[in-house]
Amino acid sequence: MGVVEVSYNITVPSGIVFNFTNMLGEGRLSKEEVEQALESAGRAADAAVAKLRETGFSKAHLSKDGTPEHVYFPRMPYIKEGNPNTEASIIKLLRYSKRLRHYDVVVFLGVGGSYLGNKVLFDCFGGCHWNANPTLRQGQPRIYFSGNNMDPVDCNGLVFEVQRLGKRYDQLGRPLRVMLVPISKSGTTLETISAFTYFYDVFSKDKDIELDCTVVTDLRADVEKAPLLQLAEKFGWEKFDIKEGIGGRFCVMTDPGLVTMAALGGDIEEFLRGAREMDTYCKQAELHENPALMNALLKFLAYGKGRDIEVFMPYSMHLKSLSEWYVQLLAESLGKRYDRNGELKHYGRTPIVAVGTTDMHAQTQQHQDGRLNKVVQFLEVANPVEEAIVHNPFPEFKLFAQYEGMDMRKNLRAALNANEGALTSDNRYNARFVLPKLNEYYLGQLMYFLMLSVAYEGELADVDAYDQPGVEVYKRLMKEQL
Ligand code: PA5
Repeated sequence: MGVVEVSYNITVPSGIVFNFTNMLGEGRLSKEEVEQALESAGRAADAAVAKLRETGFSKAHLSKDGTPEHVYFPRMPYIKEGNPNTEASIIKLLRYSKRLRHYDVVVFLGVGGSYLGNKVLFDCFGGCHWNANPTLRQGQPRIYFSGNNMDPVDCNGLVFEVQRLGKRYDQLGRPLRVMLVPISKSGTTLETISAFTYFYDVFSKDKDIELDCTVVTDLRADVEKAPLLQLAEKFGWEKFDIKEGIGGRFCVMTDPGLVTMAALGGDIEEFLRGAREMDTYCKQAELHENPALMNALLKFLAYGKGRDIEVFMPYSMHLKSLSEWYVQLLAESLGKRYDRNGELKHYGRTPIVAVGTTDMHAQTQQHQDGRLNKVVQFLEVANPVEEAIVHNPFPEFKLFAQYEGMDMRKNLRAALNANEGALTSDNRYNARFVLPKLNEYYLGQLMYFLMLSVAYEGELADVDAYDQPGVEVYKRLMKEQL
């Protein structure tokens, strides 16, 4: 008798698939334990997230100064007065998108949550050829990122590039129009503010550059303690708000992330629509059909069996920075010393950035043969918009014959299938997300799905997914040295 292959999938009406077949089976989770956990812990987590949606409060969550703090990320997709996105805030972003067409260069300055989501949007809807290719830009400005490190070489590289462009524009008879956009909720983050100050000083003295700034920060902050707000008020710069209840790693669907979508001329409404439909679906689905809850539960149960590393591996170069964004989301949200009752827990999976096929030649050896402590989370784009068919320019060489007609999309899929098959043949935990294609709508669905999964897992593990007390220790030590 042949082996009966069972497949476990959740398909969202939009076509996104979460295939978790390979989380179950020999040496992994059993269907029964998943069903049982879903009915008990899963149901409780679902109820807690429903309450979060309704009240904006998550059990025991406090701000850095020890006061109860709202968590409003589930409200981001809904454009409504009182929510992080309103009709007025979207209109303002659309106007800003048009305004930026009068600029040649935009430099976004931010770190952590004030950078990583923006970089995902840039890589998905701009990409590494954006700045060099006016056809791709269609009138939108060149876009650069800085302030995400304190590396002088990197800062000087950007100065060199912008000043080089300035000289070219000077020859064309006008200055280069540059917009600096510091993004910082606290308004005091060292990387962001030092880079902003450095660039402002250099560019404002350069006769080939016409400099302007936009500030993205918490507009409710005490002006006395908010350097960016002070400057914006003195110089009359445009301001965008980082709203109450929106933490850095959950902010990509509000102004601090959407300013980058605006600079790209991307479709903000589609991005939010994707998130909204994912939220509605997860909210209304039966427990076993809720992909975000199922994803959280399976990873939580796998953690209980020693799988404390998650390799996030899209098969797409454009999505590599999504892995980097996910690293922050997972690490800062779930890597916690204590649970919400103050008991020592040391919870959390260590996230690893990988991209297929590149890292099959670097990390896969460890995934396949190394310690049994990993879940490999694949991400596939089922129908990439672009194709590349290889033609053989060396017909006289026999060894090149096989390349004639080769379809890169097919190769990519074959590589993913092979990697998945190899891990599964050794009973190693892996799962696959499938996006029908990569556009604003599907990216909105996926990013929201991942945020929601983390919220569910915070409930399952009973840790506060919305604080990051562990970063205060190094901050204090660093301050002492400065
Ligand atoms: O998730 C977070 O809260 C952090 O990663 C912050 O986004 C990061 O430290 C930057 O902070 P700020 O926006 O205040 O400059």
